[in-house]
Amino acid sequence: MTEHRSTEHRSTEHRSPDAQFRTSLLEENDGPGTNPTDNKTMGEIIAARFSRRGFLQGSLAATAIAVTVSPLALILADDARAAGGSAFTFDEVEAGVDDKHHVAPGYDADVLLRWGDPLFADSPEFDPTKQSAQAQERQFGYNNDYVGYIPLDGSAEHGLLVVNHEYTNPHLMFPGLVTIVDGEAKQAPLSKEQVDVEMAAHGGTIVEIRKVSGKWQVVRDGKLNRRITSNTEIALSGPVAGHDRVKTNADPTGTKVIGTVNNCAGGVTPWGTYVMAEENIHGYFSGELPAGHAEAANYKRLGIPEGAYEWAAHYDRFDLGKESNEANRFGWIVEVDVNDPTSTPKKRTAMGRFKHEGAESIVAKDGRVVFYLGDDERFDYVYKFVTTGKFNAEDRAANLDLLDDGTLHVAKFAEDGSVEWLPVVFGQGPLTAENGFASQADVLIETRRAADLLGATKMDRPEDIQPNAANGKVYVMLTNNSKRKADQVDAANPRAENAFGHIIEIVEDGGDFTAAKGKWEVLLKCGDPAVAEVGATFSTATTANGWFGMPDNCAVDAAGRLWVSTDGQGPKATGRTDGLWAVDTEGEARATSKLFFRVPIGAEMCGPLFTPDDQTAFVAVQHPADGGEDWEPFGRPSYYEDLSTRWPDFKPDMPVRPSVVAITKQGGGKIAV
Ligand code: FEO
Ligand code: CA
Ligand code: CA
Repeated sequence: MTEHRSTEHRSTEHRSPDAQFRTSLLEENDGPGTNPTDNKTMGEIIAARFSRRGFLQGSLAATAIAVTVSPLALILADDARAAGGSAFTFDEVEAGVDDKHHVAPGYDADVLLRWGDPLFADSPEFDPTKQSAQAQERQFGYNNDYVGYIPLDGSAEHGLLVVNHEYTNPHLMFPGLVTIVDGEAKQAPLSKEQVDVEMAAHGGTIVEIRKVSGKWQVVRDGKLNRRITSNTEIALSGPVAGHDRVKTNADPTGTKVIGTVNNCAGGVTPWGTYVMAEENIHGYFSGELPAGHAEAANYKRLGIPEGAYEWAAHYDRFDLGKESNEANRFGWIVEVDVNDPTSTPKKRTAMGRFKHEGAESIVAKDGRVVFYLGDDERFDYVYKFVTTGKFNAEDRAANLDLLDDGTLHVAKFAEDGSVEWLPVVFGQGPLTAENGFASQADVLIETRRAADLLGATKMDRPEDIQPNAANGKVYVMLTNNSKRKADQVDAANPRAENAFGHIIEIVEDGGDFTAAKGKWEVLLKCGDPAVAEVGATFSTATTANGWFGMPDNCAVDAAGRLWVSTDGQGPKATGRTDGLWAVDTEGEARATSKLFFRVPIGAEMCGPLFTPDDQTAFVAVQHPADGGEDWEPFGRPSYYEDLSTRWPDFKPDMPVRPSVVAITKQGGGKIAV
C-alpha cells in the first residue's frame, strides 16, 4: 500500500471530494509539498506532457488508452534485440488505462481468489448486500497484497498460497455508504457491523491450492486453510515481550495482542513459515494521549494517531486516550506457522518496529538467515536482520523461534558506492541511557529514533527488498519521494522531487549476506525516458510500453530474473496503470524493461510471486476502482454504486473485488525462457 500523504489531522469539513474516502487517503503515494519554491514539480511536468497527448477523451469502456510508441523507440528496440537485447522474449502488453487486466499474448491470466470467496467447507457464499463479520472470517479478505507459495510435499503444483489482506476501502465494499451532494462524495460513518467486517477482512489467508489440467484450483476443505484477522490472538515474542511499554488493561502481561493490521508485503521463511509485515499502523489509532505522556515522541515519529479508520469508535484499544500503550503492539513482523492452523502467530519484536513493507529472506553461507526490511515512508530507512542461530534444514521445528534472537542493522549508503550496515543494538554508539534507551526493548520499540541517532541514510520510501540467490545481489525498491529537495540529494537518492522512484542493487562484501558492509549502485532510475527532465535510465531497448514509475513490490524467478510491480501510476502520473514489468539486470540488456501484465483502473499491482517451477506467476490486484477522480476518463468519485470498474466479475449486482490472478503460459511451460 502506498504511503499516507500526511500525518497531520484533517477535519471532515475541509476535505475535497476524494478526500472523503479516508482509507484511500492513507494509501496515497504523495503528500502536500513542503517545498517553498515555485519550481515545477516533476509531477506537474509529467501531467502537462500527458494532457497534451489528449488521451483523456473517450468512454472508459471503449478506450484502452494506449501510449503511442515512437518510431525511433521501435527502431532502437529492434536494434537492441538484434544485438542480444532483453532476455525476456514475450511480446509486451500495451501500456494504458482501462477497466480490465491485460497479460502478454500467449498467456492466460485467470482469477483465482476474489474478495469474499469461500475458503472453508462451511463458508457462506459471498453476498455483498449482506456481508457480515462472521461470513468474512470464513472468506478471502480484502485488498490482497503479499502472495507467497509454500509447497506441499515439495510440489510446484500443490501447495499453500499465503496472502496478506492489507487494508479496506469501505466506499468500495459497502452499499449505501456514499452519497453525492453537489458533485461531492459524502461518506457516512461506518456502523459497528461494518467495522467488524473491516476487521475480519484484514490480515491474511492461508489456503491450499492445486493445479489440475494446467489450471489452479482452491481446495476449499484444505485442512490447513486459515484466516488471520484483526481479531486473531497473536503473541508478542522476543526482546519486547512483557515489557511495561506493551502492557495494556486487557493484557497486563504485555504478551498477547489482539490482531494484526495493515499487512503489506511479507515473505516465506526458509523453514516454511509465513511472515506478514505490519505497515501503516498509524491509521487505525485515534484519540489523544494524556498530556505529557512518555510515548508522545515515539508515536509522533510514526504519525500515530492518524485516524483514517473508525475502529476506535467501537473498540477502546484503538483510542490512545483509553489505551495508551496499544500502538506499541503494532508495527512488527508477524510469523505464522502454516503447518498448524491452531498455532498462535507471533510478533517477532527482535526485527524492529516501523512501517514494515516486507520481509524477504535468504540463508547466508554460514547458515544464519538474513531478512531485508524496508520502512516505507519518505526519508526512512533500509534494514536487515541477521539471526543469531543457524537454519537447520533437517529439523523444521528447530527453526521456529530463530526470529526471536538476532541483530537488526540499518543501512548507511556512502557516496563512494559502499554501504555500511549499522547495528541497532542497545549500548552501542548512541543507543544508551543518555538518549533515553534503557534496554534493547526500548531500542526496538523506537527503532526509527534509534536509526536516526545512528545516522542511517534517509531513503525515497523503501518498499520491497529482494535478495537473489542466483547472483548474490539484493534489489531495493524505492517508490518515490516528491519531498526530497535539491539540497537533500545524495548518491543513493540522486533525484530531487523523485516522482518516479528508483531501484538500488546491493552486493554484500564477499558475497556474504551477513556482511557488515557491501557495495551498491543504482540499477534503474524510473519514469518516462522520453522526458529529459525525468532523468530515467532505462536502456534504449526499452519501449514506450516498457518503462514504468513507482517500483514497489518485486520478485525474483527461479532463474534469478527480476520482476517489478508498481504502485501509484495513473493517467496523470505516467499515462498507464500499474502492472508487472520484467527487468533485465545482466549484460548488455541491463536496465531493459518490458510490460508483462497490467491492472484495471484504480488498482495497484502487488505480490508478484513465481512458483518454484517458474510455470506460474501469481499477482495480486489491490484496490481496483479506487480513486475515480484521478482516473480519467471516469473522472468522478468511484464508490459502491458507481464504480470505475466492476472487475473481475463485471456483473451489475457485484462490486469490484480485489483478487489474486494466476498467470500461466498457454500450452504450459515456464513463464519466461
Ligand atoms: Fe503497503 Fe508500502 O506498500
Ligand atoms: Ca505500495
Ligand atoms: Ca507495497
